Amino acid sequence: MSGTPVLATQGLTRRFGGLVAVNDVTMSVPQGQTLGVIGPNGSGKSTFINLVTGHLRPTKGSVLIDGKDLTDAKPWVIAGARVARTFQIVKPFRGMSVRENVAVGILYGPEGTGRMAPALRAADEVLGEVGLGGSGDKAPGELSVADARRLEFAKALALRPRLLMLDEVMAGLRPAEIEPSLALINTLKAGGMTIIVVEHVMKAILAVSDQVMVLNQGTLLMTGSPREVLSDPRVIEAYLGQKYAQRQAGGEAGA
Ligand SMILES: Nc1ncnc2c1ncn2[C@@H]1O[C@H](COP(=O)(O)OP(=O)(O)OP(=O)(O)O)[C@@H](O)[C@H]1O
Ligand SMILES: [Mg+2]
Repeated sequence: MSGTPVLATQGLTRRFGGLVAVNDVTMSVPQGQTLGVIGPNGSGKSTFINLVTGHLRPTKGSVLIDGKDLTDAKPWVIAGARVARTFQIVKPFRGMSVRENVAVGILYGPEGTGRMAPALRAADEVLGEVGLGGSGDKAPGELSVADARRLEFAKALALRPRLLMLDEVMAGLRPAEIEPSLALINTLKAGGMTIIVVEHVMKAILAVSDQVMVLNQGTLLMTGSPREVLSDPRVIEAYLGQKYAQRQAGGEAGA
């Protein structure tokens, strides 16, 4: 295991017109760690993932995967470097079964042999891991919200990534539905996978994160242990206070 971080960004910045969605973010994740990412709506969490995975080009700054500069690399080049991600807005291929959705990633992924039968078998294995074992024959449109998110998780996992980036895979799930996802993340972690978890569900962040990075208006507010982050006055003011206030008011902020 080398000391080179699996992911490092330096001064990563993305503007949309006058808006700086991600502002000068320098960070790194060591091999095998799970990094939680929190921040208010619109603080740049998804944009950050999109910059790392090549779905958006940075205005400034760099992205290093395993020490290699992959700034501006295309998404399939990043995927080839064994980085996989989920999309916050689930994106299944509608004309295919759930099993085929996962198999496509395997066929064309870094370990794809181009042969359908083994890809379908491997897809069933991954579907079992995410708790969708019985749903392979279904159409994606038949899945519940929770299961559609599990499918998104399975599509990323099928690439057997070294770095997995999860963008709100637990959003909208009931507490009982969150537990299996947390257990799966901890199993992947035990296997040495490096994972970035973007979530508003604080319970999930606390259950899996070694470190937590807090974004606020595109800027890196702080990185620390879950305990440090939770007790930091700046984080409470920028994010947690708002969530607790919403909860007090009866709005479920997902904590
Ligand atoms: N393609 C785009 N064009 C213009 N503005 C964008 C685009 N993508 C994101 N933004 C803006 O950039 C900011 C950061 O958005 P982003 O989606 O990264 O936030 P987020 O932290 O993921 O929020 P949420 O918690 O709601 O998912 C927001 O103000 C958003 O409106
Ligand atoms: Mg987002």
